[in-house]
Amino acid sequence: MIPIRLTKPDPESLREAGAILRAGGLVAFPTETVYGLGANGWDRTACRKIFAAKGRPEDNPLILHVVHIDQAVQLAQTWPPLATALAKAFWPGPLTLVVLTNPGVPDVVRAGLSTVAVRCPDHPVARSLLEEAKVPVAAPSANRSGRPSPTSAESVAEDLGEHVDMILDGGFAGIGVESTVVDVSGSKPVLLRPGGLAAEAIEAITGPLLLPDPGGPARAPGMKYRHYAPTLPVILLKRSGPEAAATVREHFGSVTTGVLAPTSIVNGLQDYPSVDLGEDDRTAAERLFRGLRTLDQNPKLTAIVAVWNNPVGLGLAVLNRLEKAAAEVWT
Ligand code: TXA
Ligand code: MG
Repeated sequence: MIPIRLTKPDPESLREAGAILRAGGLVAFPTETVYGLGANGWDRTACRKIFAAKGRPEDNPLILHVVHIDQAVQLAQTWPPLATALAKAFWPGPLTLVVLTNPGVPDVVRAGLSTVAVRCPDHPVARSLLEEAKVPVAAPSANRSGRPSPTSAESVAEDLGEHVDMILDGGFAGIGVESTVVDVSGSKPVLLRPGGLAAEAIEAITGPLLLPDPGGPARAPGMKYRHYAPTLPVILLKRSGPEAAATVREHFGSVTTGVLAPTSIVNGLQDYPSVDLGEDDRTAAERLFRGLRTLDQNPKLTAIVAVWNNPVGLGLAVLNRLEKAAAEVWT
């Protein structure tokens, strides 16, 4: 059941959405990665509503969305040359930059950190909404905390329907996984979250990216939680090649197990309910969250087996999301 009407993003609705944001309300909107749940980034009370609607832990900071690089620079205390280089190369697009924060950015947005995350999305509806709102828009992915991110307006309504004032329906969010998050606040850039922009493309500009110290404090606080998970338990098989199909067959029954895997493996498991991830990293990213949600809605299933082992390009984001969603990882 969908408890709220989905709104077509025509000019009048976009004006209304901008007004809702300025008045302290919540608007869900499409971006090129996944759908976001937006609030006025300067408005503490409105941003608190995001945490309540999602059931999000308060120590997990939000990304501020802007239309132009100048607007991003204003949110920072210092804007390093590397941030300019990356923004020039990849904005608008699926890259979030973490920089030292302008102290005026509300605490609730950055979970009390001395840094703030900013991103300039490349989606016509997101951009029109930001133009209308005339303020930076704080927006996490528009799912209940811990669930797969939404790639359609229907998925937003499923998770958050009664908690949002408007859901702008822009169809399928094309990339399918969230933005890549890079911290440029220190002396060397750190890859905090692989995502919709391939790390290899960023490294062509920055040189090798550091990874957060696994023993240290969570640098992107959101990455420490179980995440992206459907209700059914997910078992991740980090395998490739036809023997992965044999492993599934040996351990999991075809009536109660859903399979999410590359085409070659799905082809060997035609008696299983399945989602085909395709054979390349971009297709897999596109189909990942939608696929997890689809299998989750099949009442016959008791588990989902995901097969993926390709860390190249967007494959790294797919692997990262499946590792976070998985109750078990088989290597
Ligand atoms: O593609 C996206 O990035 C989507 C769309 C809606 O723009 N948004 C999104 O937001 O994925 P969210 O809240 O689901 O993920 C934000 C990530 C979290 O892992 C969070 O911990 C990290 O960014 N983050 C935010 N601010 C940070 C900061 N100041 N320092 C380190 N990590 C930060
Ligand atoms: Mg999220």
